Amino acid sequence: MTDSREVPAPLISRPRRLRVSARLRALVRENRVSAEQLIMPHFVLPTDRADDPIESMPGISRYGIENLVQRVLADAELGIRAVLLFGTPPEGSKDERGTPASSPDSAVARAVRALKQQVGDDIVVITDVCLCAYTSHGHCGVLRDGKVINDETLPLLRETAVAHADAGADLVAPSDMMDGRVAALREGLDEAGHIDVGILSYAVKYASAYYGPFRDAAESTPAAGDRKAYQMDPANVREAIREARLDEQEGADMLMVKPALAYLDVVRAVREATSLPLATYNVSGEYSAVKAAAERGWLDEAAVVRENLGAMVRAGADLIITYHARDALEQEWL
Ligand code: PBG
Ligand code: ZN
Repeated sequence: MTDSREVPAPLISRPRRLRVSARLRALVRENRVSAEQLIMPHFVLPTDRADDPIESMPGISRYGIENLVQRVLADAELGIRAVLLFGTPPEGSKDERGTPASSPDSAVARAVRALKQQVGDDIVVITDVCLCAYTSHGHCGVLRDGKVINDETLPLLRETAVAHADAGADLVAPSDMMDGRVAALREGLDEAGHIDVGILSYAVKYASAYYGPFRDAAESTPAAGDRKAYQMDPANVREAIREARLDEQEGADMLMVKPALAYLDVVRAVREATSLPLATYNVSGEYSAVKAAAERGWLDEAAVVRENLGAMVRAGADLIITYHARDALEQEWL
């Protein structure tokens, strides 16, 4: 007869032993996030001086060129050594084909030149290559009869990438989701003599509702329709592998999965399908949701940001593009 008050047999396995103290936990920690992995996105205005806070993204501003340079220099002191630049065209200059995107005097080209003059190779300067902030209709490519025309968009993206490389960009990052754009960019860059300018491809980019605050910031909301005919269906993961492999074959140097948090299974799947460096983009809506809850006192911002960024690395991301980068380093959240 067993007595219910009997002392249980000694446990053989006690995982809690390794959680006893902070020192022990640190000793057995499997993944870490470091400053070297973080890429800070910035919005650049076509003007020398401006600091225009984005209402839906607390803590993030659109900067004039000089303000941007000051910001990047200050952030570098915290350890942020890579930036991703998004531009805005001059007022009234948007057109059907997004012409201002490839101007040698675009906000992005000017910012790249100014940054490279100041920081040289100390900061990796990456530029977003897309047309949506520059087209009058807000789509990421040439629009005809309500459709985005893939192959007519490629030369425009290619010119934009070359303009950024001419200005001194280290990497260009196409975010448009046209088929074949990595090959088109690679060919254009090589022909222009930029064999060392790399391509960070937004290979796996979903048609996500998490881009809302970004579209306010970049004024890039489509005037009509949505982006579902070119960005990926959030339900798909096999397709992510297909996109990643195609971009690798076309010559991408790094791949990206975007957004991050709702797509960590995709990060893991792509990680296992390629040996290229893999980035994930912790997008505007993911940032703003954390900020909003933290402002209300509903979430502990430091702990949540640490947990979120840690989850991205655990899922297999080598690099994280995140608006939290400055706060995380300045306030030592990692
Ligand atoms: C534009 C672009 C978008 C983002 C990066 N590049 C928005 C979109 O595709 O509508 C989103 C970034 C973010 O939400 O932080 N091609
Ligand atoms: Zn776009």
